[in-house]
Amino acid sequence: MRTEQLSGDAAGLARAGALLAGGALVAFPTETVYGLGADARNGRAVARIYEVKGRPVFNPLIVHVASLEAARAIARFDETAECLAEVFWPGALTLVLPLRPEAGLSPLVTAGLETVALRLPQSPLARALLAEAGCPVAAPSANPSGRLSPTTAAHVLAGLGGRIEALLDGGPAPVGIESTIVGLHPAPALLRPGGVPAEAVEACLGQPLQSPQPGEKPSSPGQLASHYAPRARLRLNVTAPRPGERLMGFGPTGEAALNLSPSGDLREAAANLFGHLHLLDREEGPIAVSPIPEAGLGRAINDRLRRAAAPRG
Ligand code: TXA
Ligand code: MG
Repeated sequence: MRTEQLSGDAAGLARAGALLAGGALVAFPTETVYGLGADARNGRAVARIYEVKGRPVFNPLIVHVASLEAARAIARFDETAECLAEVFWPGALTLVLPLRPEAGLSPLVTAGLETVALRLPQSPLARALLAEAGCPVAAPSANPSGRLSPTTAAHVLAGLGGRIEALLDGGPAPVGIESTIVGLHPAPALLRPGGVPAEAVEACLGQPLQSPQPGEKPSSPGQLASHYAPRARLRLNVTAPRPGERLMGFGPTGEAALNLSPSGDLREAAANLFGHLHLLDREEGPIAVSPIPEAGLGRAINDRLRRAAAPRG
């Protein structure tokens, strides 16, 4: 299969929208990472997402919508959900809410759960595409399962080129790390740290987010220990690299192969994270990573790094 490469002009958006509506797989940019989209009501299309990613079928997908009205038609919003959507949408926050069975989503999207993960992205291109497609779009990150998430069109092509119908190119993803996932039932819980700092969500809620215990429900089944894995070995919290290690620095580190943010800016570091890992993974040898503060976006960055460093299953 030839993967059509589309640009974000009117013609490219119209083509990408028509392909999605027709049941094809289209990779598209969001402000967090590139997504691999399919019409969430079309079981055959959704099944192909799992197939081309090699994704375990128990792992549910995020549904992307063009508007809050579209989101309300898919899930039940209580007062708390309305409040979070008001503050953080469009943006890098995914809400896990009770699914309306009548919404007509393929059960493959939710992997049989009674909840659905919903996101209204901020990227203008993503929103234009969702409006063109006219359907809810299920989209995990556009990478083979367990590999690094893509933050550029080139990353997507390297992982999935020739296996999907089209790729909409919107340049580098500005946030660079996946959305924060918050579940609201029975109590607000942080299911995955991400592009919106958990502290900001807690400030909006006026209460701390719970961290779900392993094995507890509802859980975020995609949170496998080994995930986002480069081929190279990773060693974290390194202040003195060993001989042969290439340092992925943060802050003023002296000699580093690449630096996530020489000035120690967590936003810049999140935006660079997957791109730097992709680059370092092109060459042989272990990677050492400087310490990154465990606050704000640093929690999401450290979460991804711990998974990248975890022993492979
Ligand atoms: O930034 C993002 O969120 C990107 C872009 C493309 O939007 N998408 C993304 O999707 O990261 P994905 O499929 O790689 O991650 C979805 C996560 C998984 O960890 C999955 O387990 C969780 O969302 N999830 C989906 N539905 C859920 C549900 N009903 N309950 C709990 N967790 C859910
Ligand atoms: Mg992913």
